[in-house]
Amino acid sequence: MVGPMPPDQFQLTGRGRLLRPEPYDGPLPWAIHVRDGRIAWIGARADAPDADAVTDLGEALVTPGLVNAHTHPAYLGDRSDEAAARLAGAPYTSGGILRTVAATRAGSDDELRSAIEGRLRAELEAGTTTVECKSGYGLSLDQELRALRLIGEAAAPVAAHVVRTFLGAHAVPSEAASMDAYSAVVAEEMLPAVAATGAAEFCDVFCDRGFFSLEATERILRVAADLGLGIRMHADQLTRGGGTELAVRLGATSADHLEQLDVAGVAILAGSRTVATLLPGPAIVMRGGLPPARALLDAGVTVALASDANAGTFGGWGAMPLVIGLGATILVMSVQEAVTAATVGGAAALGLAGRKGALAVGADADIVAWDAEHEGAFALRLGGVRPARVFASGYGLST
Ligand code: NIG
Ligand code: FE
Repeated sequence: MVGPMPPDQFQLTGRGRLLRPEPYDGPLPWAIHVRDGRIAWIGARADAPDADAVTDLGEALVTPGLVNAHTHPAYLGDRSDEAAARLAGAPYTSGGILRTVAATRAGSDDELRSAIEGRLRAELEAGTTTVECKSGYGLSLDQELRALRLIGEAAAPVAAHVVRTFLGAHAVPSEAASMDAYSAVVAEEMLPAVAATGAAEFCDVFCDRGFFSLEATERILRVAADLGLGIRMHADQLTRGGGTELAVRLGATSADHLEQLDVAGVAILAGSRTVATLLPGPAIVMRGGLPPARALLDAGVTVALASDANAGTFGGWGAMPLVIGLGATILVMSVQEAVTAATVGGAAALGLAGRKGALAVGADADIVAWDAEHEGAFALRLGGVRPARVFASGYGLST
């Protein structure tokens, strides 16, 4: 259950497994003392400061709130028919995104806001306390600004922490003359408006064959960086086009997808500070190959796991427990590596290291007790692990 945040000062205690995300191995019971929404102390209960309110989490597995560093919640309409057609052999093209754009533009603000809010609540109820939310189904100045505004409005009553990303370069809208012409609009008209209104913290580009070229991507992301936005990329998802090299060269906070990444790409990431954000959900639904998670981890790359919930390639909201399970099975990560990728890794992918995704003094008090006793349940019960309690310190947008 997601309860209201207890009083200014409270303490959680338990005798179960505590992942911070590295396992706590001190005396039991453990205790986490929270003051003003932040972790003020963590360790053996016997040494803990006095507290007015103490909640006993019993034997439950306890982790940081999960961080979902890649989602696309601002859409209306349904494309399940397209997924079925693709699984019967139809190709993935930009036509699918454009169908969602038409349905989203046709909906009212109330419809879109409540769709987004429902998706954020599903994330929170499944233990995700920080959610990155992209625009990208508007594809015009007004519609992209509207999507970012409605993400903010939808986030306000939800206790999750939301980070907004401008993804005007998601597909080329049918009214644009060409990819280059539309990229110029994104760079010269949309980005300045996004930056001037503080509508997003990051800018993302879908850099792939049939979407945005390396040159267009670089042009857009250089403008974004000059305007003070963080940058991230959909890279090497459908084809090995060199998006990863570009992300590293531009100093992107994160390069996402990477299904087609090869040994050379792994080495490039290993020599950089760019986080590799892996998305097993769409990788499976698209049957397009799996990202080289094991090689990335072995090379010392910071890896994040995220859901990529969106309108067309993976529709699971509240799927992060499943994503951890997929990381630990088909992506050949240990379960603990997968939990780390969905917490510390996700925070790094959003530039929130130290504040989110860890149970440590000074971090936000985003804490989940699960209906499980060991993290192995994320693999064993693939998609079946649910929170028993969620403590979430955020409301609305990233500040
Ligand atoms: O991350 N890759 C680009 N964007 C989404 C898919 C969007 C859609 O098909 O609606 C993704 O998979
Ligand atoms: Fe995506």
